[in-house]
Amino acid sequence: MARGALPLLRLPVLLALCLAVAACFCGGGNAAAAERKTVGVHELKRGDDFSIKVTNWGATLMSVILPDSKGNLDDVVLGYDTVAEYVNGTAYFGGLIGRVANRVAGARFTLDGKAYRLYPNDGNNSLHGGHRGFSKVIWTVMEHVGGGDSPYISLYYHSFDGEQGFPGDLDVYVTYRLSPPHVLSVRMNATARGSATPVNLAHHAYWNLGGHGSGPVLGETVQLLASRYTPVDAALIPTGALAPVAGTPYDFRAPAPVGARLAELLRGGVAGYDTNYAVDGADDSGTAATSLRPVARVRDGATGRAMELWADQPGVQFYTANGLGGVRGKGGSVYERYGALCMETQGFPDAVNHPGFPSQIVRPGQVYKHDMVFKFSF
Ligand SMILES: *[C@@H]1O[C@H](CO)[C@@H](O)[C@H](O)[C@H]1NC(C)=O
Ligand SMILES: *[C@@H]1O[C@H](CO)[C@@H](O)[C@H](O)[C@H]1NC(C)=O
Ligand SMILES: *[C@@H]1O[C@H](CO)[C@@H](O)[C@H](O)[C@H]1NC(C)=O
Repeated sequence: MARGALPLLRLPVLLALCLAVAACFCGGGNAAAAERKTVGVHELKRGDDFSIKVTNWGATLMSVILPDSKGNLDDVVLGYDTVAEYVNGTAYFGGLIGRVANRVAGARFTLDGKAYRLYPNDGNNSLHGGHRGFSKVIWTVMEHVGGGDSPYISLYYHSFDGEQGFPGDLDVYVTYRLSPPHVLSVRMNATARGSATPVNLAHHAYWNLGGHGSGPVLGETVQLLASRYTPVDAALIPTGALAPVAGTPYDFRAPAPVGARLAELLRGGVAGYDTNYAVDGADDSGTAATSLRPVARVRDGATGRAMELWADQPGVQFYTANGLGGVRGKGGSVYERYGALCMETQGFPDAVNHPGFPSQIVRPGQVYKHDMVFKFSF
């Protein structure tokens, strides 16, 4: 019976293949468009001491070169030397995360009365957009100005209806820009086409202001402008509560070394910080972004390098690279646990299953926006 059915099945498959090939030649088709989708590495350079590299594989930030207080240049984000290693990698180094960053409990949600199943890639949960989220696809380079006073690159990705289980087409853009004196901005937007969908983009740079290969960041000083956080269960899913940081190892309202209360934190049975904070002054009642506000400050005493992050999102996931171990990165460096910190501004985790959290639903024609501004000094 199976043998008899095969020829019948083959015809539609062949037809689909022919259509796909035809679409390649006629559809999006000219050489320039193809060129812009070729995976490459693009540099932005401002002056002789500030530059970044971006690949359109995952819209990934591959490097950020900055001076220290003595003028020595170093790369302050973890990553790989080649794009092939990013394709292989599982740490999301520098990636643009979507359609929904962070965890979605049970890889499911209900929207407008309809149930959706996502791709579970973190136990039963969906993490960072699923198996093949926005950090694992090829983006199109729309514009690239590599030099001058304000170099930038804009990348575009069309996410299709049903991709990783998400509803509706979505047009997504990200622009990286360098501006004076030493400012990096990452501006994202996404427009829903056809149906409502959750959107929660995040940028997943692993920062080590002492240099990407300089070892643990536990001595770097962190300040988080957040008086509350969202406690989680053992699977890192929020309970739905917003708890005060006061009196807990999560309290970074005053600048403190990353490792200052790590021992106390570890006694709670977790591997390190992997925590969503509610940014002070953000509107956590309504829909996401309003205006830029200070989120975090980080300083490395040894090199004098400092970073101030501003963003317009309700939350920031503070992650101390607890999952890293023996990862071979750039220039032969080996990255271990606590070898970097991530400050991923975004909406709250699993918001799609928590009506009390700021909504991440974007309706057809609506535009999602997310701006991050990193101000470096040394
Ligand atoms: C990809 O990962 C596999 C398994 O970890 C490894 O053997 C291979 O060398 C990696 N390839 C690249 C390009 O990093
Ligand atoms: C996934 O869900 C099933 C069924 O509820 C449960 O038995 C299993 O323990 C869960 N797995 C994890 C990793 O949580
Ligand atoms: C989204 O970003 C792109 C690239 O920066 C820009 O051209 C476009 O106008 C933005 N769209 C919206 C709706 O803001």
